[in-house]
Amino acid sequence: MARQYAMLTAVITVVLGTYTTASALGKVDKPTVDGGGCPSPGLTLNGTRVVPRSGMSPDFSTLSEVKFPARLLSPSGKGSASVASSSSVDAEAPSRICKIKCVSGQWVGPLCQEVNGDGRFQPILKSCALEEVPPNLILSFKNRIIIELNTTIPHNSTIAARCQEPIGTYKLSGPPVLNCSNGIWSSPIPKCQPTTLFTNYSENSPPTILVRVPSGSAAVDQNGGLVVFPGSILHLECLYLRRHGDPEWTWTSEAETYLTGWAIGNDERNWKYRLSIYYVKQFDTGSFTCTTSRGINNTITLQVSDIHCKPVPSMDLNPHLNYRASGHRLGQTTYFNCPPGFFLKGSANITCLPSGDWSNSPPDCIMVKCPPISVDDSRLIMVEYNDTYGKRAAFKCAWGFQMSGVNSIECLADSTWSHRIPTCTGFRLTLKTHRNGLVKF
Ligand SMILES: *[C@@H]1O[C@H](CO)[C@@H](O)[C@H](O)[C@H]1NC(C)=O
Ligand SMILES: *[C@@H]1O[C@H](CO)[C@@H](O)[C@H](O)[C@H]1NC(C)=O
Ligand SMILES: *[C@@H]1O[C@H](CO)[C@@H](O)[C@H](O)[C@H]1NC(C)=O
Ligand SMILES: *[C@@H]1O[C@H](CO)[C@@H](O)[C@H](O)[C@H]1NC(C)=O
Ligand SMILES: *[C@@H]1O[C@H](CO)[C@@H](O)[C@H](O)[C@H]1NC(C)=O
Ligand SMILES: *[C@@H]1O[C@H](CO)[C@@H](O)[C@H](O)[C@H]1NC(C)=O
Ligand SMILES: *[C@@H]1O[C@H](CO)[C@@H](O)[C@H](O)[C@H]1NC(C)=O
Ligand SMILES: *[C@@H]1O[C@H](CO)[C@@H](O)[C@H](O)[C@H]1NC(C)=O
Repeated sequence: MARQYAMLTAVITVVLGTYTTASALGKVDKPTVDGGGCPSPGLTLNGTRVVPRSGMSPDFSTLSEVKFPARLLSPSGKGSASVASSSSVDAEAPSRICKIKCVSGQWVGPLCQEVNGDGRFQPILKSCALEEVPPNLILSFKNRIIIELNTTIPHNSTIAARCQEPIGTYKLSGPPVLNCSNGIWSSPIPKCQPTTLFTNYSENSPPTILVRVPSGSAAVDQNGGLVVFPGSILHLECLYLRRHGDPEWTWTSEAETYLTGWAIGNDERNWKYRLSIYYVKQFDTGSFTCTTSRGINNTITLQVSDIHCKPVPSMDLNPHLNYRASGHRLGQTTYFNCPPGFFLKGSANITCLPSGDWSNSPPDCIMVKCPPISVDDSRLIMVEYNDTYGKRAAFKCAWGFQMSGVNSIECLADSTWSHRIPTCTGFRLTLKTHRNGLVKF
């Protein structure tokens, strides 16, 4: 009990000292006489000293409980609770009613109640810190990848962990989901262990699992699992040196047998131990593990799912856009390009994701233009001008002046002019002489 009070007291200093924002003085409960009596709690909220409402005694020694509304930032956040954007986290900070209580002459608390919550008063629990993300690890919170360092994640929320793609080239050592509970993660942040592909086929590394889909389609979902369209053909290749012994494939899917064995081709028969699934069906969903002769394993999870993305309506596409589509099933890609004189703005390809959405919106074709030319030298005259791709700007000099540079410049595909704008200099010598023998300029 004493320990719990200590913790609560610690929290109150933090909360009242630093993290209470935008709070107004709320109601103070009906005073009740409490044997101990506490000193004034010295609450300063939003720059205002807390005093009971008029008509009530300002003497805190006769109060047992003080309630006040508060909007609290995360108590462990070092000022910045930032996941993707800090404002989104701030907006999520619920507004609460908090109370502190006088127990044996000391204020303890606060206990807070969320305004739209279940009505219970609970201690404010700490967020978890995430100071760095180990190499090749991808962490996400609410389906958004955590990019910023020094992030804090609220109490009672989870983050997902997976390794960088291609899947099967790193092994996640640790659980794929972590929970934050009062400032402590449910387990240490996992690491991504490089597999045989990166370690010169070391016997001490987990084996790489490569995925090949010679027919059909597949894609990787947000949790790093492989999602395969039904009917596809799939090869899982476990990379291990044959002279070190035979690996073993095991699986959790309902299928009884799969074709496994060393690859046949001369260039791969000594290092690829394969499991093949022909015409993938729903019951092939499960995880597939390759265990080496040393007992080290690596796993890929496979989900069979009949996912289609909405076909992109051609009327929504830029009229200049060329595209080549293989279909709109899971894992299928549409490729785009623009005709000469246009540049492609956006992604040159979009892929149908396991979520049923395209990876990007279709791109645009923007007409190539060169920087505008303005002539501010009265000796230089522009006789032709069009600043789009393949067109020209042409110049001449006022009578009597000499051009330096080329008289016609072209707008190139990279939005630059082929040459510099010419200049007109000096005087042009005409060899016609006047009657009086003077040379005319
Ligand atoms: C807190 O103080 C600021 C400026 O002093 C004021 O604009 C704001 O209204 C106050 N908020 C509350 C809830 O009293
Ligand atoms: C993260 O916090 C640590 C210590 O609190 C600090 O040394 C480091 O510079 C911070 N990094 C970033 C990117 O803010
Ligand atoms: C934790 O979050 C879950 C929902 O994600 C909720 O049902 C549960 O009540 C929360 N627990 C606490 C102690 O806040
Ligand atoms: C993390 O939380 C989820 C649900 O919020 C729960 O299913 C899971 O068991 C928790 N894991 C741990 C390690 O506490
Ligand atoms: C890779 O391992 C083989 C033996 O397994 C060794 O002969 C070779 O030198 C190693 N290569 C490198 C780059 O370490
Ligand atoms: C993979 O290896 C780990 C560690 O040795 C072991 O705990 C786990 O059960 C193995 N997984 C499978 C599917 O064999
Ligand atoms: C798809 O587009 C991205 C850029 O948006 C590019 O990096 C990638 O190489 C493209 N992939 C293919 C297969 O063209
Ligand atoms: C420049 O050339 C383009 C392509 O032929 C044409 O569409 C455009 O109208 C021209 N612009 C001007 C200002 O003449």
